[in-house]
Amino acid sequence: MNAALRLLGLLALVGVIGYLVWGGTDDVDPTQKGGASDGELRVWQSSEECASCHPEIHAEWQGSWHARAYTDPAFRSQSESYRKRDCVACHAPRPIFETGTGLYERVLPRADRLHEGVDCLTCHLLPDGRLASARPDVDTTAPCAPVFMKALQTVDVCAPCHNQHDTVDEWRRSPQGQAGVGCNDCHMPVEERAPATGRSPRPVRTHVMKGGHYPDYVATAFKVETEIRDGRLRVGVKNTHEGHNLPTDDRGRALDLVVTIQDAAGNFVPPPESLVKPGQTEGTFRARFRLPYRDEFSEINTQIPPGENATFEWELPAEKGRATVELYFKLQPYILDGADDSARVHRQELEF
Ligand code: HEC
Ligand code: HEC
Ligand code: HEC
Ligand code: HEC
Ligand code: HEC
Repeated sequence: MNAALRLLGLLALVGVIGYLVWGGTDDVDPTQKGGASDGELRVWQSSEECASCHPEIHAEWQGSWHARAYTDPAFRSQSESYRKRDCVACHAPRPIFETGTGLYERVLPRADRLHEGVDCLTCHLLPDGRLASARPDVDTTAPCAPVFMKALQTVDVCAPCHNQHDTVDEWRRSPQGQAGVGCNDCHMPVEERAPATGRSPRPVRTHVMKGGHYPDYVATAFKVETEIRDGRLRVGVKNTHEGHNLPTDDRGRALDLVVTIQDAAGNFVPPPESLVKPGQTEGTFRARFRLPYRDEFSEINTQIPPGENATFEWELPAEKGRATVELYFKLQPYILDGADDSARVHRQELEF
C-alpha cells in the first residue's frame, strides 16, 4: 500500500470512530454549533488557537514561566543548548492526559512547537481531541468541547512534572495537603471575569502560576520574628504558607537570612561562632535555606518544612548599636545578594 492510500484508510477510520463517538449519540442538541455536538472536533495544534476565545488566560500563560519553560535562558544553558534530550520531556512536553497524570507517570517530550514550552495542550488536551475541564458542570457544548476530568482539579495534574525534588510529597505531609488545599488553590487564584469571549463573568482560575520568579509572591510565604533579650538577638523565619518546604523544588533556589550587627560608631561586629556561616560581605553573617545539589556533599538540606520556624541567636555587643535583618530569595545559589537573580524579600532594623 502506498503512503497516500494508507493515509486515506486512516482518515476513514478516524471518520468512523468520530461518527460512532460523537455523531452517533443524541443526548446533546445536534443543532448546537461546534463542540462535541456537531461531530466535527477541531484538531488543536497550538496554544495560539485558544487566544481568540480565552484572551485573558492566554495572556497570563504567555507571560508565565510555563510558556517560557523551553526558551528560558537558564534551561537552555543547563540543557547544553538542548543537547540533553531528556530535559526536554518536562520543558516541552506532550499532553499529560496522553502520557498519564499523577505521581508515577513519566512525561515525554514532543516533537514540534518546542518554543511553546508547557502549553495549553500539555495540561488540557485529551487523547480523543476534547479538552479537560475541572468543573463537573462544564458546558460540554462549548465550541472547544470541554469535558470534566477529575485529575485537573487535583495535584495529579502538577505531579508528573513537579515531584522531581519532592514538592508533591512535601505537600502531602503538610497541613495544607492534609486539609485538602491543593496546588491550584494557591497557585491559580480565581478572578471574576468571563471564562470565554461572550460569556458572563464568574470566578475563573488565573494561569500566571507564581513562584520564585515573583518576589512579591515569595514575600507572602514566611514571617520573620525578632526579639532582643538578655543581650542576645533572636531571629525566627517561619514557613507560613504551609503548602510545602520553603524554598521548594529547584535545587538552585536559596533563601538567605543575612544579619548585620554594628556598634554605635558603625563598626561591624564580627560573627560569633554558631550554626551560621560567614557571609559574602564583610561583617555580615547568614543562614541559608536550601536543598543542595546531589554532588554538594558538604551541604545539608536546610529547607524550612511547612509550618516550622528556623531560629537563630546572636550575642550583641555590650554598648549600643544596630542590627539589620534581611532575607534574599535567589534563583541561583552562588550569586551575590544584590545580583540580578536575587531579590530582597524582607528588611528590618533594630536598635539595641
Ligand atoms: C471558538 C471559541 C473557543 C476556542 C477557540 C476555545 N475555547 Fe475553550 N471554551 C469556549 C467557551 C465558550 C467555553 C465555555 C465557557 C463557560 O461558559 O464556562 C469554553 C470552555 C473551556 C474550558 C472549560 C472551562 C471550565 O468551565 O472549566 C476549557 C478548559 C477550555 N475552554 C480550554 C480551551 C483551550 C485549551 C483551547 C485551545 C486549545 C480552547 N479552549 C479554545 C470557547 C472556546
Ligand atoms: C520531571 C520533569 C523535569 C525534567 C525531566 C527536567 N525538568 Fe527542569 N524543571 C522542572 C520543573 C517542574 C521546574 C520548576 C521547578 C521550580 O521552579 O522550582 C524546572 C526548572 C528548571 C530550571 C529552572 C529555570 C529557572 O528559570 O530558574 C532549569 C534551569 C531546569 N529545570 C533545567 C533542566 C535540565 C537541564 C534538565 C535535564 C537535565 C531538566 N530541567 C529536566 C521539571 C523537569
Ligand atoms: C500547567 C497546566 C496548565 C496550563 C499550561 C494551562 N492550564 Fe488551563 N487550567 C489548568 C488547571 C489545573 C485548571 C483548573 C483549575 C481548577 O479549577 O482547579 C485550568 C482551568 C482552565 C480553564 C477554566 C477556568 C475556570 O476557572 O473556569 C480554562 C478556560 C483554561 N484553563 C484554559 C487554558 C488555556 C487557553 C491555556 C493556554 C493559554 C491553559 N489553560 C493552560 C491547567 C493548565
Ligand atoms: C508538563 C510539566 C508541568 C506540569 C504538568 C506543570 N508544570 Fe509547573 N513548571 C514546569 C516547568 C518545566 C517549570 C519551570 C519553567 C522555567 O522556569 O523554565 C514550571 C514552573 C512552575 C512554577 C514556578 C514559577 C516561577 O515563578 O518560577 C510554578 C509555581 C508551577 N510551575 C506550578 C504548577 C502547578 C500549580 C501545576 C499544576 C496545576 C503545574 N505547575 C503543572 C512544568 C510543569
Ligand atoms: C498554601 C499555599 C500553597 C500550596 C498548597 C502550594 N504552594 Fe507552591 N508555593 C507557595 C508559595 C507562597 C510559594 C513561594 C515560596 C516558596 O518557594 O515556597 C510557592 C512556590 C512554589 C514553586 C516555586 C519554587 C521555585 O523554584 O521558585 C513551585 C514550583 C510550587 N510552589 C509548586 C507547588 C505544587 C506543585 C504544589 C502542590 C503539590 C504547591 N506548590 C502547593 C504556596 C503554595
